[in-house]
Amino acid sequence: MEKEMQMLREKALAELGQSRSEKELQDVKVSYLGKKGKLTAVLRDMKNLSAEERPVMGALANTVRRDLESAIADKMEALKKIRMEKKLQEETIDITLPARHRAAGHLHPLTKTLRLITETFMRMGYSIEEGPEMESDYYNFHCLNLPKDHPARDMQDSFYITEDILLRTHTSPVQARTMQKHRPNDPIRMISPGRVFRWDNDATHSPVFHQVEGLVIDKDIHFSDLKGTLEMFLKELFGADTKIRFRASYFPFTEPSAEVDISFSSRTHADTKDAEWLEILGCGMVHPNVLRLNRYDPEKVNGFAFGMGVERIAMLLYGIDDLRHFYENDMRFLEQF
Ligand code: DAH
Repeated sequence: MEKEMQMLREKALAELGQSRSEKELQDVKVSYLGKKGKLTAVLRDMKNLSAEERPVMGALANTVRRDLESAIADKMEALKKIRMEKKLQEETIDITLPARHRAAGHLHPLTKTLRLITETFMRMGYSIEEGPEMESDYYNFHCLNLPKDHPARDMQDSFYITEDILLRTHTSPVQARTMQKHRPNDPIRMISPGRVFRWDNDATHSPVFHQVEGLVIDKDIHFSDLKGTLEMFLKELFGADTKIRFRASYFPFTEPSAEVDISFSSRTHADTKDAEWLEILGCGMVHPNVLRLNRYDPEKVNGFAFGMGVERIAMLLYGIDDLRHFYENDMRFLEQF
């Protein structure tokens, strides 16, 4: 019996020595130490032994059991370690691989231009006003000294929604809205950037485009204030060497009215001697009728106004020859800004 026990021990140790996985080892453990295991069976047979043999065999059996248990525990630990190491090796991250390219977006050239314009005026203390893109005939025309059947309405081809509602043709209605929002004769110094709509479509006209309106009202405002303001703004935007020319013009909401041309040979015409003049905005002294129509008193205050096309300015700033590029979302174009 004692011999049998030793053989059992040797055999078990050999088997668990050969186990290649935790699962195999667990099977070996069950086959010896489990309820129906080989060692368990030997212990069960002890009842057939004599009273002298029994304690000797009992002690031996317990030693064998303890040896097997600790050998199994050690082996289990070793197998676990091997498995972890293998896993770590398989799952290592190669930090020397080149990073995946991630394309970062950036601002559209029109947004950039709009921000440039608004920031320049904000530095001069202007506030920003907004108005709806769907506008009433009343604000878009009437309050700006353009009553129904006024011929100057033909200057702006419009998208009408009903007889009295249209997509605004310019940002000028925000002049009227701002005056009506203030107490009569309170000073105003604002710009209003936004989208406008006209029935036009070619290389220099889009049915949807952007304008920035400006309005200053106070006591004793002169044409020289308008000139100085626009000169400062345009030089800030296009460079200190920009030349500026005021040309007499007509707008129903200003009197006198002017169009402003610029010439900045150093930026856009570096290779030509004769710089061209380019029209850049409309402006003038606010017409007394416009003040009256919006509850301001032309005897007490006066002011100037201006309106510029953002696309036009962006084209000049960036040297773009066709305005349709702005809306086509061609990445080859957009990525250049
Ligand atoms: N609203 C005019 C247009 O869209 C531009 C303009 C001209 C605005 C003169 C003004 C101005 O405020 O004084 O053609």
